[in-house]
Amino acid sequence: MTGISGKRILLVIGGGIAAYKTLDLIRRLRERGASVRAVMTPAAKNFVTPLSVASLTGSKVFEDLFSLTDEAEMGHIELSRDADLLVVAPATADLLAKMAHGLADDLASTLLLATDKKILVAPAMNLRMWLAPATLRNVARLREDGVIFVGPDDGEMACGEYGPGRMSEPLTIAAAIATALSGETAIPLPPGLARPQGVLSGRRVVITSGPTHEPIDPVRFIANRSSGKQGHAIARAAAASGADVVLISGPVALPDPANVAAIHVETAREMLKAVEASLPADIFIAAAAVADWRVAEASPEKIKKDGKALPPLALVENPDILATVAKREALRPSLVIGFAAETENLLVHAKEKLLRKGCDMIIANDVGEGSGVMGGENNSVTLLTGGGMESWPNMSKDEVAGRLVTKLASMLDGGRG
Ligand code: C5P
Repeated sequence: MTGISGKRILLVIGGGIAAYKTLDLIRRLRERGASVRAVMTPAAKNFVTPLSVASLTGSKVFEDLFSLTDEAEMGHIELSRDADLLVVAPATADLLAKMAHGLADDLASTLLLATDKKILVAPAMNLRMWLAPATLRNVARLREDGVIFVGPDDGEMACGEYGPGRMSEPLTIAAAIATALSGETAIPLPPGLARPQGVLSGRRVVITSGPTHEPIDPVRFIANRSSGKQGHAIARAAAASGADVVLISGPVALPDPANVAAIHVETAREMLKAVEASLPADIFIAAAAVADWRVAEASPEKIKKDGKALPPLALVENPDILATVAKREALRPSLVIGFAAETENLLVHAKEKLLRKGCDMIIANDVGEGSGVMGGENNSVTLLTGGGMESWPNMSKDEVAGRLVTKLASMLDGGRG
């Protein structure tokens, strides 16, 4: 995690039980060479003490907008700009609402409004609060404004309920901070990048592409033969048609297409996190060949060939990204599209996938031996929707992408299937 060393993080701690995890986040960031200045909301002090935060950051904690001493030492505007990144953890429903509306009635909200730096938020709240229409509106607005989200995760909550709302784990937040500092985030395209007018103007499209790598140990991994060519071609075609495109790619040998926000991930779990952090979107296209399994416990050290028994590789199932997005209650994209790469009984399996994964379209392609699809330039696809199916002749992956974009635009405009 090289991106963090030497960086200055301004950490806003909101008032929620997850604030105890923020103490560990501070340690993780400092271990990685970052300096951390912390601001606490009045509510945050009910959960962790300024003394703990100051001890861990190794510097003074800022709390009060109207503190004469603080303002004399460092004015709040300077505080908000003298950082490489602002991080809000935990980001409560209240803080998100203030940010979405530009309120500035205490030090934390004022800093967040006054900054000229990127802001990353790690929400944490009760699941009903996270799924409340007001919070969903605020989150959508903040994403449009370029605020980067990490989490929340699903899980058991302090209030005894189960669902989305848990703050991401400190290591995950630290990884998201490293990504944000390296510029690879699902922020909207920077102003000035070409966004041509086309059938997808004003639409946001999130696309996964390439394989995933699932580590066995620090040098070995499980992977597959996906080249990412079809997914990247779709990202290019969607951007050329005016869409705001987020391309979430596993390890591939392809350059990032122009005019898309590219996020690079390795594992299925990282890919799912990046996809969820990129919502809301109008269209989600799962073109990645996600590994179905990962090694249950990757070894932290290189596994040695010591002449004894072969090392067992216990596998566990990866999350199904397509099904997870298709079955979301909140922020489900209007169109969720998957691929079915099969070597036999193509259409039977594709139809079964359409139903099982709950998506709006499955694009079936034959990747059997001799088809040349995996890694090749051409593809023959059959599109299946709830309403029927259509087969396209063999054509280049770029042509498939172009036709697909036109098709999806017309489906969004009302002509489904
Ligand atoms: O691997 P499978 O044949 O089920 O892939 C079908 C579709 O599901 C593809 O669109 C692929 O991107 C998606 N998928 C996913 N997450 C997984 C497995 C597959 O998004 N873990």
